[in-house]
Amino acid sequence: MFPVNLTSIRGNAPDTLRGLLCLSKKIKAEPAAFSSVLKGKTVLQFFVENSTRTRMSFEAATRRLGGASIAFAAATSSLQKGETLLDTVRVIQQYGVDAIVMRHSSGGSPDFVARATGLPVINAGDGSHEHPTQALLDAFTLAEAWGSDFDGPEPFRGRKLLIIGDTLQSRVTRSNIHLFSALGGQVILSGPRTLAIRDLSLFPEVKKVDFPDEVIAEVDAVMALRIQFERGHQGLIPSVEEYRTFWGLTEERVSRMKSAAPILHPGPMNRGVEIDPEVADSDRALVLDQVENGVLVRMAVLGALVGGLRA
Ligand code: CP
Repeated sequence: MFPVNLTSIRGNAPDTLRGLLCLSKKIKAEPAAFSSVLKGKTVLQFFVENSTRTRMSFEAATRRLGGASIAFAAATSSLQKGETLLDTVRVIQQYGVDAIVMRHSSGGSPDFVARATGLPVINAGDGSHEHPTQALLDAFTLAEAWGSDFDGPEPFRGRKLLIIGDTLQSRVTRSNIHLFSALGGQVILSGPRTLAIRDLSLFPEVKKVDFPDEVIAEVDAVMALRIQFERGHQGLIPSVEEYRTFWGLTEERVSRMKSAAPILHPGPMNRGVEIDPEVADSDRALVLDQVENGVLVRMAVLGALVGGLRA
């Protein structure tokens, strides 16, 4: 049974999450079979924070399922005149909307809008809280690289994912911790202590190391996170050069990884900071596979929550 909303990975049963991933696989195998799942439905793409991948892939996913989108342009909206979030959403709801895809800088705002409108809401990234469809597309991409499927429980048992960077403010990290753990794998975090999740008691299954070199040779995949300079990181890392030296995915560091271990990055990338251009453009980096799979996973989520698809 799929949920009404997808505002977080946390709280969903492992079977539900595997069901969404199995559905993504079916869609990838035969996309034409799903071309009218959202016929007659309209999805509000409500992005109040910048996005390229998530917004465009949700729009593409809606279109490929035969649905229509209303795109919200935050910068030119009446939010800029002081209209509240709730009033804004309630106004748009009157134009005939069947579901809301929502990105916002405040953690918890998708839950708030779901309760207020009664519409299905899919979280497209809320503050530092969660980014559930990013974690789903990451897991889908890793499963392809590892030759795993999602048919049985704990498909990632024995697999280790190292996430490097600003895990403190990373919604991608939180969703990946919950999903990877639900799939039986282990997440290891690494980054400057100023940017590390402080209270790991909320994530008892997670291991933390100061430097990636402590575990780089033993993990099965590495994810580099973007240094979010717009959030004032200059004061929180020693310097860009030192960050690259100790935590960046340089060719030398990557050469010490297991030969078959892939590299992920949710994007957008700071080339030469958390990932060197030679690494980002290498076969080992699955950055564009993540982008491609993002559309399929979002088709599965929209199809399940709005179009009534079952795994
Ligand atoms: N990964 C991700 O969320 O990218 P965008 O900010 O471009 O959507």
